[in-house]
Parts: sequence; C-alpha cells; structure tokens
Amino acid sequence: MSEVLKVSGVTQRFGGLVALDNISIHIGQGEIVGIIGPNGAGKTTLFNVITGIYHPTEGQVFLEDTEITTYKTHEIAKAGFARTFQNIRLFGKLSVMDNVIAGMHTRRKTNLFDAIFQTGRRRREGREAQEKAEKLLKLMDLWEDRHSLASSLPYGHQRRLEIARALAAEPKLLLLDEPAAGMNEQETEELREMVLQLKQMGLTIFLIEHDMKFVMNICERIYVLNHGVLIAQGTPAQVSQNQAVIEAYLGEED
Ligand SMILES: Nc1ncnc2c1ncn2[C@@H]1O[C@H](COP(=O)(O)OP(=O)(O)OP(=O)(O)O)[C@@H](O)[C@H]1O
Ligand SMILES: [Mg+2]
Repeated sequence: MSEVLKVSGVTQRFGGLVALDNISIHIGQGEIVGIIGPNGAGKTTLFNVITGIYHPTEGQVFLEDTEITTYKTHEIAKAGFARTFQNIRLFGKLSVMDNVIAGMHTRRKTNLFDAIFQTGRRRREGREAQEKAEKLLKLMDLWEDRHSLASSLPYGHQRRLEIARALAAEPKLLLLDEPAAGMNEQETEELREMVLQLKQMGLTIFLIEHDMKFVMNICERIYVLNHGVLIAQGTPAQVSQNQAVIEAYLGEED
C-alpha cells in the first residue's frame, strides 16, 4: 500500500509547552484513519503542522515521496492536502455554489490574461467548474441550498459545505477537524454515510473527532494523543480496550 501521508518524529513546541512530542504516523492510500484524545491533546496542532500552518520544531512531514515540512499552506494545498477547520471557515457572504467554486482555485489552469479577455479556455473552465460544483453539492446533499448565502445555512449544512469546498481541490488526502461537532444524531448519521461514500470513491481521509460512536464506526485505524504524546494506535477494538486510553479519558472526566 502506498503512503499518502507520513509524519516522522514531529515535535511542536510553543514556548515551554510541548504540544506534540516526537509523533510518527502514516496513512495509506484509501484508508480512513482517526485521531482522538482529550481536549488540548494536540490533535488540531498536528493538522496545523501537516497543512503548513506551523513548521514543526523537529521532524518531517511527507506527502507521498515529497518532503513538505517547510512548504507554505498554499503549496501544500496545491500538492494535495485539503482540510476543514474546527471553527468553520466559509465565505459567509458568498453563495453555497461560489464557496465550492472558490475551493477549486488550486486546480485552475487559466491565468489573468484568460480572465481579462474571457478566452475560450476561461469559458470552458467556468462551465467545467459549474458542473463539478453541481456534483459535489449533490454528493454532500446541498444542491437545494446552492443559491443561499453560506452564512445563512444551518450549522450542520455549513459543516458539509466545508467538506464540499475541500473536495473541490481534488485532494489526495482530506483532513477533517471534528466534522460531526455540533450535529445532532440524525445529522451525524447522514455525515457518516457521506464519508463512507467518499471512501468508496477511493478518497483517503484523516479525521479528528470527539464523537466516539462516529470514529469507531468509520475508521479502520485510530491514533490516540494525550498531552502531545501518542499513547496508543490500532483498530477501533484495540484502542477502545487499551488501558492507557481508558485512563486518559477517565482523567478527562475527573
Ligand atoms: N499557536 C499556539 N500557541 C500556543 N499554544 C498553542 C497554540 N496552538 C495550540 N496551543 C496549545 O497546544 C495544546 C494543544 O492544542 P490543540 O488545539 O492542538 O488541541 P486539540 O487536541 O485539538 O484540542 P480540542 O479537542 O480541544 O480541539 C493546547 O495546550 C493549546 O493551548
Ligand atoms: Mg482541536
């Protein structure tokens, strides 16, 4: 199995705080992998390192065979990693459709010349963008909302729109930071079916999630972080029986 993501010995310090301590993980083509852990464990920080928001204090990040540790965020997006954010980041004043089209910019081939002179290439690309957006919106069950302003959507739909927008970049790896956060049981179940559909389409997915039922149902492998340390990894069955994991979560409830 070829690896899409490899994180090798990554440490991220913020002043005196070690947010990630010598973390190594890998994700193979077509896998759905989860990362769990109590609040403040370092999960989002790991995503931020992988997507170039932070450059780690130590260690390396690879996308397939390319080292991307020091790449900028837009270079990493172009190379093939797309993500959603724990705090939703959409263009609130743009329509649902235009948010998805905005997500395609890393893939566009037309330049400023094409834009100004409305070249054939530009018109063709515009038409293709519309068709692609239509497919993505239907896939994420947002077609009825296509003309609405992103900010006017219910919360669960905004989360799905973030995924549609990330998919528009045609990523090799989709990173989801708490996709089910704030969703009710029915919305979470619908999301689960959509994510499984993405997997069937061959997409590789790395997701952070607090909803244990969701993670355990959907992921083939799970990593567990606690205070910046990787304390366990394995199948859902293995990690849910792991003593260190149970203690980390019991500690959180104290
Ligand atoms: N830019 C930063 N500067 C300083 N400290 C930071 C920064 N980003 C994160 N941290 C700290 O790093 C630790 C890990 O934070 P992180 O957001 O990665 O946790 P998390 O596992 O995503 O938690 P949650 O489940 O609450 O989202 C926390 O102690 C946090 O305060
Ligand atoms: Mg987080």
